[in-house]
Amino acid sequence: SKKWVLTVTAQTPTNIAVIKYWGKRDENLILPINDSISVTLDPEHLCTTTSVAVSPSFDQDCMWLNGKEFSLAGGRYQRCLKEIRSRACDYVDEKKGIKITKKEWENLHVHIASYNNFPTAAGLASSAAGFACLVFALAKLMNVKDDLGTLSSIARQGSGSACRSLYGGFAKWIMGKNDNGSDSIAVQLADEKHWDDLVIVIAVVSSRQKETSSTTGMRETVETSMLIQHRAKEVVPKRIVEMEEAIKNRDFPSFSRLACADSNQFHAVCLDTLPPIFYMNDTIISCVEKWNRSEESPQVAYTFDAGPNAVLIARNRKAAALLLQRLLFFFPPHSDADLSSYVIGDKSILQ
Ligand code: PMV
Repeated sequence: SKKWVLTVTAQTPTNIAVIKYWGKRDENLILPINDSISVTLDPEHLCTTTSVAVSPSFDQDCMWLNGKEFSLAGGRYQRCLKEIRSRACDYVDEKKGIKITKKEWENLHVHIASYNNFPTAAGLASSAAGFACLVFALAKLMNVKDDLGTLSSIARQGSGSACRSLYGGFAKWIMGKNDNGSDSIAVQLADEKHWDDLVIVIAVVSSRQKETSSTTGMRETVETSMLIQHRAKEVVPKRIVEMEEAIKNRDFPSFSRLACADSNQFHAVCLDTLPPIFYMNDTIISCVEKWNRSEESPQVAYTFDAGPNAVLIARNRKAAALLLQRLLFFFPPHSDADLSSYVIGDKSILQ
């Protein structure tokens, strides 16, 4: 019968790198030139919810993003679908009378509905949450038995940073050595309970879409910057070791120093690109740097991705509350400054 439909729903938060990935050694497989480390946000904020369904009555693969039909034609979607299908396992539900063999999965079509709980146009719409959620939901649907490491290497082929979003807490994307990417996977460094004093505040500086996509930006950096080789070979490997240590020991001064320095070096290699790429807005950096230096030890770390929005990681709730006061002082809600809103990691600190 063609009547049955099987569905699975998953929810995945986005992640923010504190040691950045920038530059690919293989554009097709999405293999990076250095390891990276990230913190995954809690699922209430900036997350994607994806439902996937399969039925013999579907005659093609389709996707809807935030309620609008979305083309799956892109190579990255096709690659993720193909990788998951090739790992599908026999599925049996005797109550419903459904039996799908490994072979049959190849000919069944899926419908995918995905929602972001944050404004997609705000320039925060990192594809990290999206691809991680898609791959995880499809894997559950098709009874894939492989571990999260393998799923992370599939999500990686959708969007590099997506491989780190399969884990809560802190994750490391290991660049790997193989040409086929089999060892370029993400692992969890610590779970979400390990360091739950931290409060993440995202200051939305501008809702404009970024001008240079990360794919184009990375390509141009790798082709034209002299600094990037130094960064990837000499700087990042040491920082990865130090950052892992800082996370393990919940050492905020080291965490903050490394995260800020790494964000600044990532934007320095962007400036060192021909033509130069400007992503970041430095007003918030000066504000945080001044404050951190006036205290005995740093209160807040900042990091910027390929856009102007600041991700601020406060050492605890008290520091987060003070940070918000400062942001509101420097950028009153209706000032001419472009800083328009704050996405708060913990809503209660606003009250
Ligand atoms: O995964 P992509 O192609 O969206 O690249 C992400 C790059 C940065 O966000 C700037 C850094 C990172 O490690 O997430």
